[in-house]
Amino acid sequence: MTGFPICRPRRLRQNATLRAMVRETEINPRDLIYPLFAIHGRGVKNPVPSLPGVYQLSIDNLVQEAGEVVAAGIPAVLLFGIPATKDEVGSGAYDPHGIVQEAVRALKKAYPELLIITDVCLCEYTSHGHCGLVDDGQVLNDPTLELIAKTALSHVEAGADIVAPSDMMDGRVGAIRKLLDANGFTQTPILAYSAKYASVFYGPFRDAAGSTPRFGDRRGYQMDPANSDEALREVELDLQEGADMVMVKPALPYLDIIRRVKDNFNVPLAAYQVSGEYAMLKSAAANGWLDEEQSVLEALTAIKRAGADLIITYYAKDVVKWLK
Ligand code: PBG
Repeated sequence: MTGFPICRPRRLRQNATLRAMVRETEINPRDLIYPLFAIHGRGVKNPVPSLPGVYQLSIDNLVQEAGEVVAAGIPAVLLFGIPATKDEVGSGAYDPHGIVQEAVRALKKAYPELLIITDVCLCEYTSHGHCGLVDDGQVLNDPTLELIAKTALSHVEAGADIVAPSDMMDGRVGAIRKLLDANGFTQTPILAYSAKYASVFYGPFRDAAGSTPRFGDRRGYQMDPANSDEALREVELDLQEGADMVMVKPALPYLDIIRRVKDNFNVPLAAYQVSGEYAMLKSAAANGWLDEEQSVLEALTAIKRAGADLIITYYAKDVVKWLK
């Protein structure tokens, strides 16, 4: 190769057909996961101010929403719950008739083919808003494991297809795997939030889920945004404990992490385009500062190009529309 003028990269950019032929990355509806928020009641559809277009839905409305997801060809939802009451030990999280458990039953009954992934955590259910048991201002690791595993089991017993622990306690994947296996659920996959950073971009989600910690922050269990090697250690541990799929979260500010995980491990990798990423794009679009469709598709293409196989996004339904 002798370089320019023999080599001209623009030759392959001459027209849309040619560009499409050599395109390396594509967003596919079957790679998308849509988050849903279940709340008690009937006919409830509470808008989340910091997440325009996202609602807390009572189960009747949730089922209707799931119908749209199925119709769009999106294969999976990620389910969160807003309980009626909270307590110190997050008992709503593992209540067999808790909000997520009941929502799973209703969704599974209405749409058996829709994959239901449940977020497994205590923070929506604890009065202090932390992801584990708290004693003397400390989030306890080992005593939390039992409750996290119990939560996952209750989701699976209700019909959840995949469980996704997001609490970031050490050893939680192993604890879940052990309890699921002991109860005969050896075939239920675990999608581990492995590299989950202590990110300010979760702000709008905490409005949606009512899970802002009452004191302190999550830096004692979620990862330091400054770290990258540590993400590989987290993924490795989760895989050793039996994770089937791993996750990097958030997505766009962490493309380097997505790429490193993809290069180092041959397992399905999910990336979570989190609430703050959605809110940034939404607000810029609402101001007319960015074209929403193009900016979202570019961001999601970048997340896939970095190495994500699956993308969890509040934009999933819009994306399918735009791709048509
Ligand atoms: C629960 C959980 C959080 C998110 C997903 N699962 C919040 C947190 O860790 O504070 C964030 C999702 C988003 O911002 O869209 N632990």
